Amino acid sequence: MAHDDGVISLDVWQVDGCAAFGAREQTCRWKCGSQCAHEAPNEGAVENDTFRDVVERFISRRGLLRGAAAVGVGLVVSRELSGGAASARAAQGGGSTLTFQSIPLDTTDRITVAPGYTSKVLLRWGDPLFMDSPPFNPFTQSAEAQSRQFGYNCDFVGFYPNPAGSDGKARALLVVNHEYTNPEIMFFGYDAKSPTRVQVDVELAAHGIAVVEIERRDREWFVLAGAPLNRRLTAESEMLLTGPAAGADWLKTSADATGTIVRGMLNNCSAGKTPWGTVLTCEENFNQYFANRGQLPDSDPRKAVHTRYGLPAEASERKWENFHDRFDISKEPNEPFRFGWVVEIDPYDPSSIPRKRTALGRFKHEATATVVGPDGRVGVYMGDDERFDFIYKFVSNGQADLVNRAANRDLLDSGTLYVAKFNDDGSGAWLPLIQGQGPLTAANGFANQADVLIKTRLAGTQMGATRMDRPEDIDYNPVNGKVYIALTNNTQRTDAQVDAPNPRANNRNGHIIELTDANSDPTATAFAWEIFMLCGDPAKDADVYFAGYPKELVSAISSPDNLVVDKSGNLWIFTDGQIGSGTLRMNDSVHVVPTAGPERGRLMTFLNGVPGGEVASGDLSDDDEALFVSIQHPGEGGTLEKPVSRWPDNSSLPRPSVVVAWKTAEGSKVIGS
Ligand code: FEO
Ligand code: CA
Ligand code: CA
Repeated sequence: MAHDDGVISLDVWQVDGCAAFGAREQTCRWKCGSQCAHEAPNEGAVENDTFRDVVERFISRRGLLRGAAAVGVGLVVSRELSGGAASARAAQGGGSTLTFQSIPLDTTDRITVAPGYTSKVLLRWGDPLFMDSPPFNPFTQSAEAQSRQFGYNCDFVGFYPNPAGSDGKARALLVVNHEYTNPEIMFFGYDAKSPTRVQVDVELAAHGIAVVEIERRDREWFVLAGAPLNRRLTAESEMLLTGPAAGADWLKTSADATGTIVRGMLNNCSAGKTPWGTVLTCEENFNQYFANRGQLPDSDPRKAVHTRYGLPAEASERKWENFHDRFDISKEPNEPFRFGWVVEIDPYDPSSIPRKRTALGRFKHEATATVVGPDGRVGVYMGDDERFDFIYKFVSNGQADLVNRAANRDLLDSGTLYVAKFNDDGSGAWLPLIQGQGPLTAANGFANQADVLIKTRLAGTQMGATRMDRPEDIDYNPVNGKVYIALTNNTQRTDAQVDAPNPRANNRNGHIIELTDANSDPTATAFAWEIFMLCGDPAKDADVYFAGYPKELVSAISSPDNLVVDKSGNLWIFTDGQIGSGTLRMNDSVHVVPTAGPERGRLMTFLNGVPGGEVASGDLSDDDEALFVSIQHPGEGGTLEKPVSRWPDNSSLPRPSVVVAWKTAEGSKVIGS
């Protein structure tokens, strides 16, 4: 089966083509606990607009599509923007910095990048990170070994110059989330009905985050195994709860009477870099790890909260509760309240203790975007990735200190959390979630601010926040002062539920909103917004929209997930679901689009992933000359006996990995040039 060095024989299992169309089922099962198979937990009022109503209002209000008309349920771009004139304009280049040749989407079992570029695998599941790390051997996995190796299902990738404050041209840190595990393609002989203790403990150790030192020689980046800042944190690592909810009764368990000390973090999806050089890593679908909500009596007020957060009524899919009481709600009803937070970690200090910042609220956090305002206070934009859930912003009380990093240690522990209300006229408001204000009273279940923060979703509902189509990443564009919000998809939105910011029923392909806070001030409480992109296949779907750019000239895209903005203000988009039923039937990709100038909306494809895999996240080096991309769950939907992907080792054991792409052609080395 395996050679002495642990490498799997390539002869034992054969690839069965490149189907991968079953991938979504496994993605749903392990990534989010099959949330789509359940009712969306946000029961709320619906608005009675049709797509035609809102599109027509949108068009007449914004004047964006002069001459356009809504036909049926589709958007049509105006004549003046389509056809020959637009083609001529595109041929002239239009001033965009994106001069690379866009590539067609594909279903191949390899990473493809634009002509003139190359890529390589930089870090893969099981890679040793420390001097004492054992080599990866899939047949002898242990929690101890996994906790010293690169974890599973990389998602967020963050580039941090090393040392802090340097230009990052020669040395850097990569900070990488390990969101979740796919035990069916991690372990030979895995029995989902009865996983072993060893398998469960390997999974706990495969979650979390990695900090890895990297070095550039010539133009190529390399991993420095054994480097002093390398670090692994897992679902068992000690962390602190800080901020207004720390120490609250609902955060206390039999293992922690203080309500301030937590074992680990779960389902850290994406994240965000702070201007002071820490990472805000986000616990997303934490609900799926906990079992037996149904055993709480209906009279227990915690039960309704656990229901609103989608915790399983019976056994969990992963069955961790078989070996760890803390995942059994009937035994530890408060343990789930200790997850679903934003966790701040200092990657430059391997001895620092991660802090779960309760002031930023508790929900299925996708990512953060932290922006310093004109008076030094910061705004942190955040999405709750669930169908019909909300968008939030935290505004600090204190000011960021961009010289003395240590001065920001408690900055995110006090401030105001807001939830977004989008109006159909293109305006919007950030509504404060403050105990005692409006409906957030003791009579409604909010006796103190800890209640508001632990039950953030319920507070948002009370405030009348706008129910969105799965808010994923949010990113700030410093070139134009606007904020971009990826709404991945929502196939459960009905015609009766469409509204202006979520204008499509059965939204399979997702969309992107462009939000502008008043005066581009991240601490403002009023904003304007517009639709930037309605995703889909321009060749087939009538209801696509690319910021007014002719749809004949752009790439297809579905399910926008994570976002990065480069130094020129171009928006890089990483997708999760282009393969899914009703979407493009293509591997996930990295796309990029100008946000200004005559090419605003001209979407191009830079990199394609592999079957079963999600192009989960990525980041650019500080000089924009390297693009790091996490390929998550390659081969999902297959089995070890019948793999749908053999990437990256050409073995039947696919391995989630981070790749790096750079330019080999002559001229500027900036990615996208
Ligand atoms: Fe883990 Fe919302 O994606
Ligand atoms: Ca994501
Ligand atoms: Ca981002």
